[in-house]
Amino acid sequence: MLRTFCAFLVITPMLASAAEGPMAQGVRPLVIGHRGASAYVPEHTLEAYERAIDLGADYIETDLVSTRDGYLIARHENELSDSTDAPQRYPTRKAKKMIEGREVEGWFSEDFTLEEISTIRAKERLPFRSQANNSLYHIPTIAEILTLRAAKSRETGRAIGIYIETKHPAYFRSIARPMEPALMSILRAWAMDREGAPVFLESFDPDSAKRMAMETVGPVIQLLALPEHASDANLKMIATYAKGIGPEKSMIVPVSKEGQAGAPTDLITRAHKLGLVVHPYTFRPEAQFQAASYGGDPAKEYCLFQSLGVDGLFTDAPDLALKAFRESCPISAPSPAKK
Ligand code: G3P
Ligand code: CA
Repeated sequence: MLRTFCAFLVITPMLASAAEGPMAQGVRPLVIGHRGASAYVPEHTLEAYERAIDLGADYIETDLVSTRDGYLIARHENELSDSTDAPQRYPTRKAKKMIEGREVEGWFSEDFTLEEISTIRAKERLPFRSQANNSLYHIPTIAEILTLRAAKSRETGRAIGIYIETKHPAYFRSIARPMEPALMSILRAWAMDREGAPVFLESFDPDSAKRMAMETVGPVIQLLALPEHASDANLKMIATYAKGIGPEKSMIVPVSKEGQAGAPTDLITRAHKLGLVVHPYTFRPEAQFQAASYGGDPAKEYCLFQSLGVDGLFTDAPDLALKAFRESCPISAPSPAKK
């Protein structure tokens, strides 16, 4: 099936996007360790980020929420019960809130001080992944993650990048915990708000993405969840403040209800024409996260997206992405004549 696809690609306009993407420059896509190496270690812990770096990730990705006292900590949601043992440690702190128009019940980061958060431990969110490391690792602040990044960059001799997402920024603004100013001052303190620093800033919320674009020199990525967010008009608007887009991967290769990968869309071509880089999410090793067409082989998915010209991708398993790019679909450097 994949062969059929690749043959199809040769005669479609998608080749134009590949010609403008990293393949044309003889480089593979950036490998972004999604929430760390979250296929192996509970997400958003220093241990998960370190594992991603040790597995070769170019960037580590962290989602941020705020504590009661305004510290930015790494969590995918401000509701903590799916990924921490907060309910066991603080049984009386359960609350019900409206978060961005949705009623949510649970334990919320903004109800805990950083000191209290330091007593909570992370747990694996997905039941089919290893639970062996539950309740071992603490919830890190962005400052701790930047410290780790700097130490691992020195240790490995690689400039490890950090890819930072504001989560629920409108909600946190509404409760007087605006995230962007806190994040910008931390980036400045860490000398990461400068041209060429290995940092990307990302958000699903266009308002937060624009605020970050205005307040920092760092490149901003506008995350996109649905195909209707990828109109030419919207991409043009995004190009006025962002360096690129982070689309859900099915916006590039749609998957049918039966699990078959369909013909690629022209999203990469249209984004590249506007000068936007494209970093789709999320590549995961388990079969339920992949189209049946790949036959359970994650390398097929990585190679297809590389052939389509993505500039980077978010993966829970950075080692598998790198293995695919190294062994299954290596890129040879362009000859001088082709440069
Ligand atoms: O930030 C890219 C990707 O992480 C977006 O999805 O929900 O995992 O933050 P999510
Ligand atoms: Ca994210």
